[in-house]
Amino acid sequence: MKALITSGGRGTRLRPLTHTQNKHLIPIANKPILFYALETVAEAGIKEVGIVTNQEGREVREAVGDGSAWGLRVTYIPQEAPLGLAHVVKISRDFVGDEPFVFYLGDNMVVGGIRRFIKAFFQEKSNCHLTLARVKDPERFGVPEIRGKQIVRIEEKPAVPKSEFAVAGIYIYDSSIFEAVENIRPSDRGELEISDAHQYLIEHGYKVTYSEITGWWKDTGKPIDLLEANRLVLENQKGRVDGFVDHRSHLAGNVVIEKGAKIVNSHIRGPAIIGRRTVVENSYIGPFTSIGDDCVVRNSEVEFSIVMNKCQILDVGIRIESSILGFDVQVVHAEGMPRTHRFMIGDQSRVEIA
Ligand code: DAU
Repeated sequence: MKALITSGGRGTRLRPLTHTQNKHLIPIANKPILFYALETVAEAGIKEVGIVTNQEGREVREAVGDGSAWGLRVTYIPQEAPLGLAHVVKISRDFVGDEPFVFYLGDNMVVGGIRRFIKAFFQEKSNCHLTLARVKDPERFGVPEIRGKQIVRIEEKPAVPKSEFAVAGIYIYDSSIFEAVENIRPSDRGELEISDAHQYLIEHGYKVTYSEITGWWKDTGKPIDLLEANRLVLENQKGRVDGFVDHRSHLAGNVVIEKGAKIVNSHIRGPAIIGRRTVVENSYIGPFTSIGDDCVVRNSEVEFSIVMNKCQILDVGIRIESSILGFDVQVVHAEGMPRTHRFMIGDQSRVEIA
């Protein structure tokens, strides 16, 4: 069985982070989101993966390479423009061939693996097996209408959702999906919608079944989703200390200190991860925080945040919380008079000041 994984799209809801990097490479617990998808399909016993990239796709190719790090063989499939998820399936026909396959949205994260969904697909002799997750905001997703145990309709981002479920971005199909994607039309937002392809299958008598995801699942579409995913992954990590921690520092709970990191006179309350060669000095790092590689945190406090590689947080007098700092960002104390806030902030950033 092959898997098809997405890594294209625009990532508009994650700007400004996605102005300079592909959203699938944003780190969660210091590892790119896309790597979790690769781990999940490899764990399910899949060996051959097609990654759909945007036209250029350089960053993703550089990060993933030939896939051998996961025991996978990776083929890259460039998409000329983000024309929709059904379009992604359409252009992947040659790669997929006629066998059943897993379609996995590369910005989705799931705990507990996908084996049981694949098993259900085969046991129920489905043409299309969907995964559903109970959510508070179904209007952000594809939403099924369910009668008895049957999906009778699927709508993409409906104003009035017909259930409290989201269709999660993990789908298992046989080749009937190719008939569906050939026969639907672009939606009002100009995309070939995967929900319309599912609706086509339902209307044309194909067997569309589902499993409920009972553990956690996240679509990392919005900034708060990143912080939540980070929290959930960190909660499940095992603590280890491969770096240096001086005798005045205190680590509590499950904390990872990577090789080359240096913790000096600081308090780190897990779950948290401190990346390679990062220095934390006279500081407090609170729960659910990832600090990337080559950062410096000095005389400052950070909690429930994602700090990417090469950031500097120096002498900041107030705790930084619920924040996402991109690569090479500096948050520093303003020296001298007048005592003002001074900003150098890129497009579409957001700053909240107490
Ligand atoms: O996460 C689950 C949801 O994913 C489903 O409930 C929806 O039915 C489905 O349409 C999709 O909605 P999103 O609005 O979250 O899709 P998004 O545009 O974020 O794209 C999902 C992934 O596919 C992401 O990895 C980017 C990639 N993508 C997207 C499009 C539209 C592509 O590679 N090419 C594309 O043309």
